[in-house]
Amino acid sequence: MTRLIYVNGDFLPEQDAKISVLDRGFLFADAVYEVSTILDGKLVDNKAHLRRLARSLSELDMAAPCSDEDIIAAQHKLLELNGVKEGLLYLQVSRGVADRDFPYPEHSESSLVMFTQAKNILDNPKIKSGLKVISTPDLRWKRRDIKTVGLLAPSMAKQEALRAGADDAWMVEDDFITEGTSNNAYIVTPDNVIKTRHLGNEILAGITRTAVLKFAKEAGIDVIEEPFTVAEVKQAKEAFITSASMFVMPVVNFDGDDVGNGKPGPITIQLRKVYIATAMERADL
Ligand code: PDD
Repeated sequence: MTRLIYVNGDFLPEQDAKISVLDRGFLFADAVYEVSTILDGKLVDNKAHLRRLARSLSELDMAAPCSDEDIIAAQHKLLELNGVKEGLLYLQVSRGVADRDFPYPEHSESSLVMFTQAKNILDNPKIKSGLKVISTPDLRWKRRDIKTVGLLAPSMAKQEALRAGADDAWMVEDDFITEGTSNNAYIVTPDNVIKTRHLGNEILAGITRTAVLKFAKEAGIDVIEEPFTVAEVKQAKEAFITSASMFVMPVVNFDGDDVGNGKPGPITIQLRKVYIATAMERADL
């Protein structure tokens, strides 16, 4: 069965799903996106993703393509048509078509594109082995709180990681870790405190991050939201990442050195379990 892709109101076979070369998403990366998890045919934390989408749009003075209700109806139909039970739903809004020029066009219609990707989210083989991560300079722009499709710097970082035999890269600015290429970064300090960078323009406010920090606090684990250094990762008992596509995933090696004992840590495993156990409760579509 061909996968159907949603393009501005139509559900089209993959080969027919097209966008103009004059779309500003293509020419200027003038587009924002969201990735949400499909579990048991439902979307986890979809409302939170749509709230973050609305914020990204408003930070860029970009019009919403349609109402949230219309987006949700289209998401629902796409999930049904493609029959995906586990995986990801990608959604992208761009400012639309206009002759190439830098200022925002006065009249353009935002475009909305969505597709599904079938993927093993729960049984990711990396859960057992954990991830190897390298550090790399953060080459991105200064508004990483906006989830734009300008993803070349993180792609370069991820490619560098793969070339080095690692799974991912943590990006570093002024000696502090900002975040992973497509995830938020955490350590567990020698005194069992979870440390992750505070929210601001330097990182994306992860939807998974919000849920996981809440679970950590409920479990009585101390959380400090402040930047941590490369040296602190070397001293850490555990490290992990969070994202919609990875949930909570252990990091066991950093720049070639074991993190803690080089195995997924107990706090990481505990948080992953709680996250998964409650994921269906947060499946709001
Ligand atoms: N990325 N930080 C960055 C830079 C990200 O790109 C992402 C998500 C996150 C985690 O956010 P969330 O928990 O809401 O998924 C943090 C998605 C998965 C992606 O680009 O594929």
